[in-house]
Amino acid sequence: MTVVVLGGAGYIGSHTVDRLVEKGYDVAVIDNLITGHRAAVNPKARFYQGDIRDRGFLDRVFGTETNVEGVIHFAAFSIVPESMENPLKYFDNNTGGMITLLEAMKDHDIKRIIFSSTAATYGEPKQIPIKETDPQIPTNPYGESKLCMEKIIKWADKAYGIKFVALRYFNVAGAKDDGSIGEDHHPETHLVPIILQVAAGERDGLKIFGTDYPTKDGTNVRDYVHVMDLADAHILALEYLKDGHDSDAFNLGSSTGFSNKEILEAVRKATGQPIPAEDAPRRAGDPSTLIAASDKARKILGWKPQYDDVEEIIRTAWNWKQSHPKGYNDRGEA
Ligand code: UFG
Repeated sequence: MTVVVLGGAGYIGSHTVDRLVEKGYDVAVIDNLITGHRAAVNPKARFYQGDIRDRGFLDRVFGTETNVEGVIHFAAFSIVPESMENPLKYFDNNTGGMITLLEAMKDHDIKRIIFSSTAATYGEPKQIPIKETDPQIPTNPYGESKLCMEKIIKWADKAYGIKFVALRYFNVAGAKDDGSIGEDHHPETHLVPIILQVAAGERDGLKIFGTDYPTKDGTNVRDYVHVMDLADAHILALEYLKDGHDSDAFNLGSSTGFSNKEILEAVRKATGQPIPAEDAPRRAGDPSTLIAASDKARKILGWKPQYDDVEEIIRTAWNWKQSHPKGYNDRGEA
């Protein structure tokens, strides 16, 4: 039996593929390599380059991989500020891509999907920590495009019996322990890798977006989870569906919040670098505080995150950064 991983060359996808292979699963990866990296894919996985919006391509892959026990779907755009400027790009790829994928799954009789949803589906939360049953009112098109995916899959489940697990990630950081794979976005927009670029001397300083939020120090508060812990959650979710359980949604976070300034301090400690930073205006679409209640995933999926120390998470990212100063270096850049 094969697990097909869409977006398996991306940051979270590649770590999940690596873990699946390590655990002995047979894995096939689909990625259009727009943001993913071929070198990030574990060589034991079969690789198909193509786009999830291309129905003919999906039919060819599912025609070749005929024994699929489940699909893990990461293939999406995920940059909040870009989604504010270009919402249709997000609805086309994320939401539209999901429709094409589900049509192909229906026709090829594939009945299980685990997919990346996000804390961004909640928008500005009414209460902290955020529970899975809380209202989902996104404040940006990225979150909305993912919420649409959640809604579409519910109806596809009812009509065609495609069982799903939606995993609502909070903020992901870190890299595989041995530094062989890690985070490599072009351009980079996420807080931890940006601070590490400053630590490595690639950027002059960090701009802290917004210092007047109603939080402990005025900066946004986020809940950080290690990428390998996320990878494990996907495998647990697949096994949960294979055991015959019903479709569901789970938050994945540490249940602890760190402000942007606290993260800056933690990176200073983990790297030993001074890291200059300056206050800057708010970034459009940013909710003030996002902290997960993640006891549901722990209880029902049996998820036990291994990394509970944010400095340790940052150290794994720093290890990757130091061993791969130019990332995968596959974009033809100097
Ligand atoms: N930030 C800065 N300076 C920077 C970059 C980021 O201050 O140079 C701040 C942001 O304004 C935000 C915090 O750092 O307050 C974290 O920002 P990220 O871009 O790293 O991540 P987000 O909080 O925007 O994460 C959101 C959702 C996730 C989703 C992710 C995808 O919460 O669920 O977008 O990009 F996966």
